[in-house]
Amino acid sequence: RLSGAEPGGHPDFEPVPPDGRDRVTVPAGFEYEVLIGWGDPVLPDAPPFDFDRQTESAQSRQFGVNNDYCALVPLPGGDRWLMVSNHEYATEPLMYPDWDPAAPSEEHVRTAWAAYGMSVVLVERSSRDGRLRARADGRWNRRITLTTPFELRGPAAGSPRLRTSADPEGRHVLGTMANCSGGTTPWGTVLSGEENVHMAFAYAERVTDPPTREGLRRHGFAEGASPRAWETYDTRFDLGREPNEAHRFGWIVEIDPLRPDSVPVKHTALGRFKHEGANISVAPDGRVVAYMGDDERFEYLYKFVSDERMREGDDRRSREHNKRLLDSGTLYAARFTGDSPAREIDGRGKPPRDGEFDGTGTWIPLAHNDRSFVPGMTGDDVYIFTRRAADLAGATPMDRPEDVQPHPRTGRVYAALTNNDYRGAAGVPGPDEANPRTRNRDGHILELCERGDDPAAERFVWRLMLVCGDPRSPGTYYAGFDKSRVSAISCPDNLAFDEHDNLWIATDAGHRGGLNDGLYVVPLGGPERGRVRRFLTVPTGAECCGPVIGPDFVLVSVQHPGELPEADARDPASHWPDGGDSQPRAAVIAVRRTDGGPLVRRRP
Ligand code: FEO
Ligand code: CA
Ligand code: CA
Ligand code: CA
Repeated sequence: RLSGAEPGGHPDFEPVPPDGRDRVTVPAGFEYEVLIGWGDPVLPDAPPFDFDRQTESAQSRQFGVNNDYCALVPLPGGDRWLMVSNHEYATEPLMYPDWDPAAPSEEHVRTAWAAYGMSVVLVERSSRDGRLRARADGRWNRRITLTTPFELRGPAAGSPRLRTSADPEGRHVLGTMANCSGGTTPWGTVLSGEENVHMAFAYAERVTDPPTREGLRRHGFAEGASPRAWETYDTRFDLGREPNEAHRFGWIVEIDPLRPDSVPVKHTALGRFKHEGANISVAPDGRVVAYMGDDERFEYLYKFVSDERMREGDDRRSREHNKRLLDSGTLYAARFTGDSPAREIDGRGKPPRDGEFDGTGTWIPLAHNDRSFVPGMTGDDVYIFTRRAADLAGATPMDRPEDVQPHPRTGRVYAALTNNDYRGAAGVPGPDEANPRTRNRDGHILELCERGDDPAAERFVWRLMLVCGDPRSPGTYYAGFDKSRVSAISCPDNLAFDEHDNLWIATDAGHRGGLNDGLYVVPLGGPERGRVRRFLTVPTGAECCGPVIGPDFVLVSVQHPGELPEADARDPASHWPDGGDSQPRAAVIAVRRTDGGPLVRRRP
């Protein structure tokens, strides 16, 4: 059974009310500033951002667009970090004043390729005022784009299904894209999930190989020309000509920010799907476990357990050993079994008679290195068509798994199931105890405890901690806390922990009801477990992403401000952060107390 965590310190602030205006709101006694945003310099030779004259050359030296995940890797000596940001996707109508959706120009397309990927930026604390600053002159600073060489590693590297005319060996890919969330490893590298990669490709109908066709269909690859016309300027995005190029995206990538000359890696051992991110736990015997979500309706939770053990220490030999840990191991998918009778799951969120949505679960092995455990599928097929392998293995279809994150101290795993408005519709799965609502608009948070507190275990227990939505509704649950005293939360997406056993939750509700997304905090244990409080809100049309919780600061990625239906560059729905009639720019903000004090203060 799951018992409550120990009560920790609670950040002391008055929750902010819901907001719909084009601004960031923070609690009284806090302030924020932009650390870095789209177009700001990442490399010393970056030209100043010029909205009206964007080039591939400039963008490949500047901070990319629509930053989602944000990692802060500490450098020795304290008060200096390498910040790694994911640039998930381009919003061309908001990026280019002369964007022509009918015929995108080559410069627009190439500039977008440079705007995708990741940025590594030195961040340091000013000795003068204690504030964080991003520096373009850090010797580790780096831009990774859609044309940066990556190495495919793990059991499926070199597979015939990964070979293309540009890479007959199936081991080297140009670029990463659709990088959504991620994780920082104990060995100081950063993992990032390639998520909605289907949007880059054209002409799925021209593919003849049946398994490839079926895989493309399952991942939503479209027929006909693509809306961004990338295939016009690089034939690898034309599936009729390079059907296998699709298989070279949709992986977990790993970059070593401390080694700016290192070749980043795509890890085939962690499977291929719409990866949200990956987060590491270390088992008592030293093996490492990566937890992962596949963000689509009715997709699955996964984990990977390494064969090798992590070496302690950050000397070069240990780091190089640890950077190989994700090359070999076992890939699992999760099956959830409720402990209440199915008839008590009414689809409206009313808890069953035992008072909780909870039960037991199994990690089903899909493959160990070259060996498949799924009848009818080879090892390569399991890694490349992982969704199908999990179907055949009997994994539980979930309500869009976003971040799946182990608590660094307790090892308990928290999964954000963001929403699923199709649950219970005709022809798809209905509610179950782990996904208890039909037409789940608001999402839920699942808490999972591995048997024996061993992340490598194959059995677990679980319960829902939050069933999100209007606290006045009987179909919502805030861990049993008094719902008249919580902030309403909907569509949990990214998760983070502070050092005091609070869970921080960033939301992606898509400006529903005219209200902005935000960042919330909830104690995981003690008498206030379930007391959700809204810490900040982001501007109109923005998504709140990538929270990093420091001792006296919070970083938030303000992604795609102004992105509302029908938005274009001439009439953006947001002018954040520069104001006036400026273009909106996605950015990382740093929030702190105005007096510079610690985030978490014990109440007197
Ligand atoms: Fe890019 Fe699953 O959010
Ligand atoms: Ca996002
Ligand atoms: Ca139950
Ligand atoms: Ca996300």
